[in-house]
Amino acid sequence: MPDRRPLLIFGASRGVGLELARLERAAGRSVAAMLRPHSDDGHLREIGVEILRGDALSRREIEEALASLSGPFDIVSTLSGRGEDGRLADDEGNINVIEAVEGSGRAGRLVLITSMGCGDMAPYRSDRAIAAFGAVVDAKTRAEDRLRETDLDWTILRPGGLVSEPSTGNGLLTQNPEVHGLIHRADVALLAARTLRDPATSRQAFAVVDRNRMTCTTQVDPFPLA
Ligand SMILES: NC(=O)c1ccc[n+]([C@@H]2O[C@H](COP(=O)([O-])OP(=O)(O)OC[C@H]3O[C@@H](n4cnc5c(N)ncnc54)[C@H](OP(=O)(O)O)[C@@H]3O)[C@@H](O)[C@H]2O)c1
Repeated sequence: MPDRRPLLIFGASRGVGLELARLERAAGRSVAAMLRPHSDDGHLREIGVEILRGDALSRREIEEALASLSGPFDIVSTLSGRGEDGRLADDEGNINVIEAVEGSGRAGRLVLITSMGCGDMAPYRSDRAIAAFGAVVDAKTRAEDRLRETDLDWTILRPGGLVSEPSTGNGLLTQNPEVHGLIHRADVALLAARTLRDPATSRQAFAVVDRNRMTCTTQVDPFPLA
Protein backbone atom coordinates (compact mmCIF):
# COMPACT_ATOMS: atom_id res chain seq x y z
CA MET A 1 0.00 0.00 0.00
CA PRO A 2 2.17 2.89 -1.25
CA ASP A 3 -0.09 5.54 0.35
CA ARG A 4 0.88 4.29 3.79
CA ARG A 5 4.44 5.48 3.23
CA PRO A 6 5.04 9.05 4.31
CA LEU A 7 5.83 11.54 1.56
CA LEU A 8 8.92 13.76 1.78
CA ILE A 9 8.75 16.89 -0.38
CA PHE A 10 11.72 19.06 -1.39
CA GLY A 11 10.43 22.48 -2.54
CA ALA A 12 7.19 22.53 -0.50
CA SER A 13 7.43 26.17 0.65
CA ARG A 14 5.38 27.38 -2.33
CA GLY A 15 4.01 26.57 -5.77
CA VAL A 16 3.61 22.97 -6.91
CA GLY A 17 5.28 21.55 -3.79
CA LEU A 18 2.89 23.40 -1.45
CA GLU A 19 -0.14 22.38 -3.53
CA LEU A 20 1.01 18.76 -3.37
CA ALA A 21 1.46 18.94 0.42
CA ARG A 22 -2.13 20.26 0.69
CA LEU A 23 -3.52 17.45 -1.49
CA GLU A 24 -1.69 14.68 0.31
CA ARG A 25 -2.58 15.98 3.78
CA ALA A 26 -6.22 16.28 2.70
CA ALA A 27 -6.00 12.60 1.66
CA GLY A 28 -4.75 11.77 5.16
CA ARG A 29 -1.15 11.02 4.25
CA SER A 30 1.83 11.84 6.48
CA VAL A 31 3.92 14.53 4.80
CA ALA A 32 7.36 15.91 5.70
CA ALA A 33 9.09 18.81 3.97
CA MET A 34 12.70 19.92 3.98
CA LEU A 35 12.89 23.71 3.98
CA ARG A 36 15.85 26.09 4.04
CA PRO A 37 16.45 27.68 7.45
CA HIS A 38 14.77 30.99 6.60
CA SER A 39 11.94 29.65 4.46
CA ASP A 40 8.43 30.30 5.82
CA ASP A 41 6.76 27.13 7.15
CA GLY A 42 3.46 28.73 8.31
CA HIS A 43 1.15 27.24 5.65
CA LEU A 44 2.75 23.80 5.99
CA ARG A 45 2.53 23.70 9.79
CA GLU A 46 -1.15 24.70 9.64
CA ILE A 47 -1.92 21.55 7.63
CA GLY A 48 0.19 19.24 9.79
CA VAL A 49 3.31 18.84 7.67
CA GLU A 50 6.45 17.82 9.58
CA ILE A 51 9.16 20.43 8.96
CA LEU A 52 12.77 19.35 8.52
CA ARG A 53 15.32 22.13 8.14
CA GLY A 54 18.16 21.96 5.65
CA ASP A 55 19.63 23.29 2.43
CA ALA A 56 19.49 20.97 -0.56
CA LEU A 57 22.85 22.29 -1.70
CA SER A 58 24.28 20.38 1.28
CA ARG A 59 24.29 16.60 0.88
CA ARG A 60 25.02 16.26 4.62
CA GLU A 61 21.95 18.31 5.59
CA ILE A 62 19.74 16.14 3.38
CA GLU A 63 21.17 12.98 4.93
CA GLU A 64 20.45 14.38 8.39
CA ALA A 65 16.87 15.13 7.36
CA LEU A 66 16.43 11.60 6.00
CA ALA A 67 17.86 10.11 9.20
CA SER A 68 15.09 11.81 11.19
CA LEU A 69 12.42 9.85 9.25
CA SER A 70 11.69 6.27 10.20
CA GLY A 71 10.98 3.49 7.69
CA PRO A 72 10.51 3.80 3.92
CA PHE A 73 9.20 6.99 2.31
CA ASP A 74 8.23 8.38 -1.09
CA ILE A 75 9.89 11.53 -2.41
CA VAL A 76 8.88 14.43 -4.64
CA SER A 77 11.30 17.20 -5.57
CA THR A 78 10.29 20.49 -7.17
CA LEU A 79 13.61 22.15 -6.26
CA SER A 80 14.61 25.19 -8.27
CA GLY A 81 16.63 28.33 -7.68
CA ARG A 82 20.11 29.62 -6.87
CA GLY A 83 21.97 29.61 -3.58
CA GLU A 84 23.76 32.77 -2.40
CA ASP A 85 26.93 31.64 -4.19
CA GLY A 86 25.09 31.09 -7.47
CA ARG A 87 24.90 27.30 -7.34
CA LEU A 88 21.64 25.86 -8.70
CA ALA A 89 19.28 23.62 -6.78
CA ASP A 90 17.99 22.49 -10.19
CA ASP A 91 21.05 20.30 -10.76
CA GLU A 92 23.20 20.22 -7.62
CA GLY A 93 20.31 20.22 -5.13
CA ASN A 94 18.36 17.58 -6.99
CA ILE A 95 21.46 15.41 -7.49
CA ASN A 96 22.14 15.65 -3.74
CA VAL A 97 18.56 14.53 -3.08
CA ILE A 98 18.82 11.64 -5.55
CA GLU A 99 22.14 10.39 -4.16
CA ALA A 100 21.14 10.80 -0.50
CA VAL A 101 17.82 9.06 -1.06
CA GLU A 102 19.50 6.21 -2.94
CA GLY A 103 22.10 5.89 -0.19
CA SER A 104 19.38 5.70 2.47
CA GLY A 105 18.13 2.39 1.07
CA ARG A 106 14.60 3.42 2.17
CA ALA A 107 13.24 5.14 -0.94
CA GLY A 108 9.85 4.12 -2.29
CA ARG A 109 8.63 6.10 -5.33
CA LEU A 110 10.50 9.26 -6.38
CA VAL A 111 8.90 11.89 -8.61
CA LEU A 112 11.26 14.56 -9.96
CA ILE A 113 9.58 17.70 -11.32
CA THR A 114 11.79 19.29 -13.98
CA SER A 115 10.61 21.24 -17.03
CA MET A 116 9.37 21.03 -20.56
CA GLY A 117 12.48 21.31 -22.74
CA CYS A 118 14.56 18.83 -20.70
CA GLY A 119 16.17 15.71 -22.16
CA ASP A 120 14.65 14.53 -25.44
CA MET A 121 12.48 17.68 -25.55
CA ALA A 122 15.58 19.89 -26.01
CA PRO A 123 15.54 19.93 -29.85
CA TYR A 124 12.02 21.41 -29.77
CA ARG A 125 12.85 24.43 -27.62
CA SER A 126 12.32 27.88 -29.13
CA ASP A 127 15.21 30.37 -29.29
CA ARG A 128 13.22 32.52 -26.88
CA ALA A 129 12.92 29.68 -24.37
CA ILE A 130 16.63 28.86 -24.65
CA ALA A 131 17.55 32.52 -24.06
CA ALA A 132 15.14 32.91 -21.13
CA PHE A 133 15.72 29.69 -19.17
CA GLY A 134 17.98 27.41 -21.20
CA ALA A 135 20.64 27.22 -18.45
CA VAL A 136 18.10 26.20 -15.80
CA VAL A 137 16.53 23.62 -18.10
CA ASP A 138 19.99 22.19 -18.89
CA ALA A 139 20.69 21.99 -15.14
CA LYS A 140 17.44 20.07 -14.64
CA THR A 141 18.45 17.69 -17.46
CA ARG A 142 21.68 16.92 -15.55
CA ALA A 143 19.55 15.94 -12.55
CA GLU A 144 17.31 13.79 -14.78
CA ASP A 145 20.41 12.07 -16.19
CA ARG A 146 21.72 11.31 -12.71
CA LEU A 147 18.34 9.88 -11.70
CA ARG A 148 18.28 7.56 -14.71
CA GLU A 149 21.60 6.06 -13.58
CA THR A 150 20.08 4.88 -10.28
CA ASP A 151 18.05 1.78 -9.50
CA LEU A 152 15.37 3.96 -7.87
CA ASP A 153 11.65 3.69 -8.71
CA TRP A 154 11.43 7.11 -10.35
CA THR A 155 9.20 9.15 -12.65
CA ILE A 156 10.15 12.47 -14.23
CA LEU A 157 7.42 15.08 -14.80
CA ARG A 158 8.22 18.03 -17.09
CA PRO A 159 5.59 20.75 -16.76
CA GLY A 160 5.00 23.48 -19.30
CA GLY A 161 4.70 27.14 -18.29
CA LEU A 162 3.18 27.30 -14.80
CA VAL A 163 0.07 29.29 -13.91
CA SER A 164 -1.06 30.01 -10.32
CA GLU A 165 -4.81 29.47 -10.71
CA PRO A 166 -7.20 26.82 -9.37
CA SER A 167 -7.06 23.29 -10.78
CA THR A 168 -8.86 22.77 -14.09
CA GLY A 169 -8.61 18.96 -13.96
CA ASN A 170 -7.52 19.12 -17.61
CA GLY A 171 -3.84 18.31 -17.10
CA LEU A 172 -2.34 15.36 -18.95
CA LEU A 173 0.92 13.42 -19.19
CA THR A 174 2.41 12.73 -22.60
CA GLN A 175 5.61 11.36 -24.05
CA ASN A 176 5.35 13.49 -27.20
CA PRO A 177 8.57 15.60 -26.98
CA GLU A 178 7.21 18.28 -29.34
CA VAL A 179 4.38 19.50 -27.10
CA HIS A 180 4.35 23.07 -25.73
CA GLY A 181 1.92 24.87 -23.47
CA LEU A 182 0.80 25.87 -20.01
CA ILE A 183 -0.50 24.11 -16.90
CA HIS A 184 -1.81 25.26 -13.54
CA ARG A 185 0.41 24.50 -10.55
CA ALA A 186 -2.52 22.81 -8.78
CA ASP A 187 -2.91 20.42 -11.74
CA VAL A 188 0.78 19.52 -11.72
CA ALA A 189 0.37 18.67 -8.03
CA LEU A 190 -2.71 16.56 -8.79
CA LEU A 191 -0.87 14.65 -11.51
CA ALA A 192 2.20 14.18 -9.29
CA ALA A 193 -0.03 12.64 -6.60
CA ARG A 194 -1.55 10.26 -9.16
CA THR A 195 1.87 9.45 -10.65
CA LEU A 196 3.18 8.45 -7.21
CA ARG A 197 0.38 5.88 -7.04
CA ASP A 198 0.69 4.53 -10.60
CA PRO A 199 3.45 1.93 -11.04
CA ALA A 200 2.95 2.04 -14.82
CA THR A 201 4.73 5.43 -14.82
CA SER A 202 7.87 3.97 -13.25
CA ARG A 203 11.23 4.86 -14.87
CA GLN A 204 9.62 7.06 -17.54
CA ALA A 205 9.60 10.80 -18.29
CA PHE A 206 6.49 12.77 -19.27
CA ALA A 207 5.64 16.28 -20.37
CA VAL A 208 2.79 17.74 -18.28
CA VAL A 209 0.39 20.19 -19.90
CA ASP A 210 -3.24 21.36 -19.85
CA ARG A 211 -5.13 19.78 -22.78
CA ASN A 212 -6.86 23.11 -23.43
CA ARG A 213 -3.69 25.21 -23.28
CA MET A 214 -1.28 23.17 -25.42
CA THR A 215 0.05 23.35 -28.96
CA CYS A 216 1.71 20.57 -30.93
CA THR A 217 2.26 19.91 -34.63
CA THR A 218 1.96 16.14 -34.10
CA GLN A 219 -0.66 14.03 -32.32
CA VAL A 220 -0.60 14.12 -28.51
CA ASP A 221 -1.54 10.82 -26.87
CA PRO A 222 -2.32 11.29 -23.16
CA PHE A 223 -0.76 8.63 -20.93
CA PRO A 224 -3.62 6.60 -19.35
CA LEU A 225 -2.88 7.30 -15.67
CA ALA A 226 -4.56 4.89 -13.26
N1 LIG B 1 7.83 28.83 -13.67
C1 LIG B 1 7.50 28.08 -14.71
O1 LIG B 1 6.77 28.49 -15.62
C2 LIG B 1 8.06 26.67 -14.78
C3 LIG B 1 7.92 25.95 -15.97
C4 LIG B 1 8.34 24.62 -16.02
C5 LIG B 1 8.91 24.04 -14.89
N2 LIG B 1 9.05 24.77 -13.75
C6 LIG B 1 9.62 24.08 -12.58
O2 LIG B 1 8.56 23.48 -11.86
C7 LIG B 1 8.92 23.35 -10.47
C8 LIG B 1 7.84 23.97 -9.58
O3 LIG B 1 7.82 25.36 -9.82
P1 LIG B 1 7.08 26.36 -8.80
O4 LIG B 1 7.10 27.70 -9.49
O5 LIG B 1 5.80 25.79 -8.36
O6 LIG B 1 8.03 26.35 -7.54
P2 LIG B 1 9.30 27.28 -7.23
O7 LIG B 1 8.82 28.65 -6.86
O8 LIG B 1 10.29 27.18 -8.35
O9 LIG B 1 9.84 26.57 -5.90
C9 LIG B 1 11.16 26.13 -5.77
C10 LIG B 1 11.28 25.52 -4.40
O10 LIG B 1 12.63 25.08 -4.23
C11 LIG B 1 13.05 25.46 -2.93
N3 LIG B 1 14.50 25.59 -2.90
C12 LIG B 1 15.29 26.28 -3.76
N4 LIG B 1 16.58 26.15 -3.43
C13 LIG B 1 16.60 25.34 -2.33
C14 LIG B 1 17.64 24.81 -1.52
N5 LIG B 1 18.93 25.09 -1.78
N6 LIG B 1 17.33 24.01 -0.48
C15 LIG B 1 16.02 23.71 -0.20
N7 LIG B 1 14.98 24.18 -0.94
C16 LIG B 1 15.28 24.99 -1.98
C17 LIG B 1 12.36 26.78 -2.68
O11 LIG B 1 12.35 27.04 -1.29
P3 LIG B 1 12.70 28.48 -0.61
O12 LIG B 1 11.45 28.88 0.08
O13 LIG B 1 13.80 28.15 0.36
O14 LIG B 1 13.16 29.42 -1.68
C18 LIG B 1 10.97 26.49 -3.25
O15 LIG B 1 10.18 25.80 -2.31
C19 LIG B 1 10.28 24.01 -10.34
O16 LIG B 1 11.30 23.04 -10.42
C20 LIG B 1 10.32 24.95 -11.55
O17 LIG B 1 11.64 25.27 -11.95
C21 LIG B 1 8.64 26.07 -13.67
